[in-house]
Amino acid sequence: MKWALVVGASGDIGEKIACDLAAAGWSLYLHANIGIEKVNKLIEKLSLEYQKQDFLRVQADFNNLMQVEDIVKQLFALDALIFAQGTTHYGLFSQSTYANTAEIMQMQVLNPLRLIQLLENKLIKNSYGRIIFLGSVYGGSGSAMEVAYSTAKGALSAFARAYSKEVASLGITVNVIAPGAVDTKMNSLFSNDQKAEIDEQIPMGRFAAPDEISYWVKAVLDEHAKYLTGQTIYVTGGWLK
Ligand SMILES: NC(=O)c1ccc[n+]([C@@H]2O[C@H](COP(=O)([O-])OP(=O)(O)OC[C@H]3O[C@@H](n4cnc5c(N)ncnc54)[C@H](OP(=O)(O)O)[C@@H]3O)[C@@H](O)[C@H]2O)c1
Repeated sequence: MKWALVVGASGDIGEKIACDLAAAGWSLYLHANIGIEKVNKLIEKLSLEYQKQDFLRVQADFNNLMQVEDIVKQLFALDALIFAQGTTHYGLFSQSTYANTAEIMQMQVLNPLRLIQLLENKLIKNSYGRIIFLGSVYGGSGSAMEVAYSTAKGALSAFARAYSKEVASLGITVNVIAPGAVDTKMNSLFSNDQKAEIDEQIPMGRFAAPDEISYWVKAVLDEHAKYLTGQTIYVTGGWLK
């Protein structure tokens, strides 16, 4: 049985990834930071639906290196590592604080990269290791008012390009799924009018639903996708990139 860790399973895209992978026969470690109740309910639901698979909870604040390193002790086998956690900070870069930038870089880049270092040994065990980051179209195009977030997402694509070359011979692939705008709680601060303005800029005319993003995560985890590595796949409805 294959095992995946879904970091950010308490988020809207992460939850959909978990449901898709469970339906495809995976056993899962499901991570939350403060959304532990949501993950508990998800585990209850998936355990009932898929009784031959295992679903275990992992809790860590990705701004806390010790908590991230501690995850390693909680995992047994591991075939896939999916990073679907993330937050942004809206505002002019000139007015944001060092702490805003540090927080975004730590939880989306530095601490995930540290976890990968610690888990590489597990991922090479059966020559099937998969690492997938949720990036963003902003990592490619850049966005005013979300400069640190754009920087972090661009760094993930750069990391995937470089690290994929080191681990290809070990059977590990490293890729980024980079959505445009997705209808999740991350965008709940936008009013309906603001969302309608964004809709107008997107050639498809609407935000993506979470399952239109999770589909690509499942696709990259497929056995037949093993020759794809170092790539950033933009899933944007034709927007920006
Ligand atoms: N929604 C979009 O339009 C969009 C577009 C492009 C890219 N993305 C990317 O897609 C991914 C998923 O986003 P989403 O839309 O599903 O957002 P979401 O529903 O708001 O979920 C955010 C996730 O990040 C986790 N998280 C937040 N702070 C954390 C911390 N300090 N440590 C560990 N985990 C933390 C949350 O965990 P808790 O709730 O448990 O704290 C939650 O699981 C993110 O990487 C995001 O950048 C989203």
